[in-house]
Amino acid sequence: TGSRPDPAALLIWYDRHRRALPWRALPGETPDPYRVWLSEIMLQQTTVRAVKPYFERFLTLFPTVADLAAAPAEDVMKAWAGLGYYSRARNLHACAQAVVERFGGRFPDSEEELRSLPGVGAYTAAAIAAIAFDRRAVVVDGNVERVVARLYTVEQPLPKAKPLIRDLADGLTPEQRPGDFAQAMMDLGATICTPKSPACGLCPFREPCAARTEGTQETYPRKEKK
Ligand code: ADE
Repeated sequence: TGSRPDPAALLIWYDRHRRALPWRALPGETPDPYRVWLSEIMLQQTTVRAVKPYFERFLTLFPTVADLAAAPAEDVMKAWAGLGYYSRARNLHACAQAVVERFGGRFPDSEEELRSLPGVGAYTAAAIAAIAFDRRAVVVDGNVERVVARLYTVEQPLPKAKPLIRDLADGLTPEQRPGDFAQAMMDLGATICTPKSPACGLCPFREPCAARTEGTQETYPRKEKK
C-alpha cells in the first residue's frame, strides 16, 4: 500500500498470463501491423469471442493489406456480414487502399500518420503504434479506464474523467515494452479487474491499488447518472 504502481510488475504478470489471441505475435516474434490493425477495427464494439472466427476468415480471404485493397467491395462486405456497424467495413476497405496508395502497402508507425487513415481514430492509432511498432503510446479503452480509475480512485465520473484518466495512464506507460504494456492493461481489465467481483487477489497491482485498499473497487469508474 502507498507504493506507486510499477509497470514492470504488470509486464511480469503478462509474461505468465497473456491470452493467446490470433492477432497477437508470439513472444519474440515481430507483430504484423495488418493483423493488429484488422483486429483493432473488428474489436471496436465487438467482443473478442465474436471477432475470432471473422478475423481468421479475413486472413484466409485477404492475407495481406494489398489483397484486401484489391478485393471487390462486395467481397469485403460479405466477409464482414454479421459483425455489424457496416461503416467499419467500408472504412476498412478504404483504409487498405490508402495504405497501398499512400504508403506503398506498409502501415505507417506514427500516431499522426495512422490517424490520417480512414476509420483510424485516436484510440486505434495509439493501439497500432504501440502493439504493432512498440512505440510508446497511451492506449486507453474501456478496460483500461476501469483499471486506472480503480488504481487512483478517480472520483470524477465518466465521461468527464476521460482526460484525467488519460493523463494517469500516460504517467504509468513505460518506455520499455509499451506494446506489451498496452495489451497487458487490456488483459488485466478483461480477466482480473472486471466490472463485477474483480479478482484482486491475483492482480499484480493489488498492493498499490487505492480502490482495493479502501475496499471500494466495484464503485469505480464512477458514472454520470443518466
Ligand atoms: N481489445 C481491443 N484490442 C485488444 C487487444 N489488442 N487485445 C485484447 N483485447 C483487445
